[in-house]
Amino acid sequence: MKGVVFNILEELVIETAGIAGWNSILEKTGSDGIYTSGESYSDDELFALVSEICIALDMPAEKVVGIFGEYLFEQLNARHPTFTASATDLKTFLFSVDTVIHGEVLKLYTNPNLPRFEYQDRGDNQLTMLYRSPRKLCILAEGLVRGAAKHYGKEVSIDHPVCLHNGADHCQLDVSIK
Ligand code: HEM
Repeated sequence: MKGVVFNILEELVIETAGIAGWNSILEKTGSDGIYTSGESYSDDELFALVSEICIALDMPAEKVVGIFGEYLFEQLNARHPTFTASATDLKTFLFSVDTVIHGEVLKLYTNPNLPRFEYQDRGDNQLTMLYRSPRKLCILAEGLVRGAAKHYGKEVSIDHPVCLHNGADHCQLDVSIK
C-alpha cells in the first residue's frame, strides 16, 4: 500500500488518540513510522497497525476500517479535488472510480495496488459495485463510498450480500442513495 494511505491513517490516529497514541502503536508494531507518500510499503505492516489501533481503541476491525475508509476519502479528495469537481452527482462519481479515478492514480503513482470495480446500474439512485482485489478490503471500499456520499451531501445504505471473505471471487456492494 502506498505511503499516502499510511500518512492518512497516522493523521486519523493523531486526531483521535494524540501523538502519544500513535507512537505507542508504532512501538507495538515495531514500525519506524516514516512513510513517503508515493512509496509502497507492505500491506502486512498496514494490517498490523490497524490491529493495534483496534486494541488501543477497543473497537472491532470492521468498525475501524470503515471509519478509516470515510476519513481516507475526505483526505484523498482534499489531495486530488479534480475528481469530485468533474462529477456532478454521487452516482456519476461512483461510476468513475474504476476507470477515471483509479486510471489517473495509475499515472500519478508508480505501481499502485488498486482494486477493480464492475458496475450495474439499478435505476434511480441505485447501483451495484462488484469489488475485486487480492487485498479483500471491501470494508474499506464501503467506508470510501460513505465518505463520497458525505462529500455530495447524501446518505447511502450499502448491502453486501456476496463477500470475498466468505469464499466468493468478488464482493457485491448494493448502494442505495437516499
Ligand atoms: C468511492 C470512491 C473510492 C473507492 C470505493 C475506492 C476504493 C479503493 C480501495 C478499496 C482501495 C484499497 C486497495 C484495494 O482494495 O485493493 C483503494 C486504493 C487507493 N485508491 Fe481508491 N477508491 C475511491 C476513491 C479514490 C480517490 C478519490 C482517490 C484519489 C486519488 C483514490 C486513490 C487511491 C489510492 C492512491 C489508493 C492506494 C493504492 C496503493 O496503495 O497502491 N481512490 N481505493
